[in-house]
Amino acid sequence: MSQLLEVSGVSVSFDGFKAINNLSFSIGEAEMRAIIGPNGAGKTTFMDIVTGKTKPNAGTVLWGEMSRNLIGMNEAKIARIGVGRKFQRPTVFEDQSVFDNLMMAVKNTRAPWSVLFFKPKFKDIAKVEELASEIGLSDQLKRKSGELSHGQKQWLEIGMLLAQDPRLLLVDEPAAGMTLAEREHTTDILKRTAKTRAVVVVEHDMEFVRRLECKVTVLHEGSVLAEGSLDHVTANPQVIEVYLGR
Ligand SMILES: Nc1ncnc2c1ncn2[C@@H]1O[C@H](COP(=O)(O)OP(=O)(O)OP(=O)(O)O)[C@@H](O)[C@H]1O
Ligand SMILES: [Mg+2]
Repeated sequence: MSQLLEVSGVSVSFDGFKAINNLSFSIGEAEMRAIIGPNGAGKTTFMDIVTGKTKPNAGTVLWGEMSRNLIGMNEAKIARIGVGRKFQRPTVFEDQSVFDNLMMAVKNTRAPWSVLFFKPKFKDIAKVEELASEIGLSDQLKRKSGELSHGQKQWLEIGMLLAQDPRLLLVDEPAAGMTLAEREHTTDILKRTAKTRAVVVVEHDMEFVRRLECKVTVLHEGSVLAEGSLDHVTANPQVIEVYLGR
């Protein structure tokens, strides 16, 4: 499997505290990966570094077949070259319908000036319908987004990110606040997404991680503590100690 993202020797300090400490690992093309680890392990900071929000003090984050270093690129550029990030709080337009939110995201993939003269074409409507089907909201297209459940809003936001056609999707704690049925549907969406692009999921809910059926990277104190299947890493004495010692 060729690597899409290669993190090497990345470190970042906040006021002398090493939140990320010589972190190295890689993510393959169209791979699903779960990142787990106790609070403060550096999971969110890792995503901040990949998306250009936080600049590390050392290391490289190489992207794609050209091995371009994402470090030093600004957030907008990183998003443009194919890194999508889902934040915990959905940022959907509550007064707009599900259809309109998805259509806006489809429009956003164009040059800014073209949005001014934009009229939805058949192709764009088909794209919106395809996205709605991917996230399981086909029968909700006319509803105001503000009326959706918490889970449905999260799926809508995933759909809006998929409209940008990212090669890598970063998702931080998607299961938080969801019902069991919503969590199961979220795993289905993410697994389907990972068939055509890389998906990195940070999650504390181990049942959720188990359903992803993917390789797991355990972070602790800003470094990789263990890597492998969920059963493999949770049998690792160091991982057990870290979790029990919390
Ligand atoms: N901007 C910042 N300024 C100062 N310290 C920070 C900053 N961002 C993160 N930290 C610290 O870096 C460490 C790693 O934080 P991070 O948010 O990456 O952890 P996490 O693994 O996402 O934890 P959680 O599971 O609780 O979300 C923590 O000790 C945190 O307090
Ligand atoms: Mg976090």
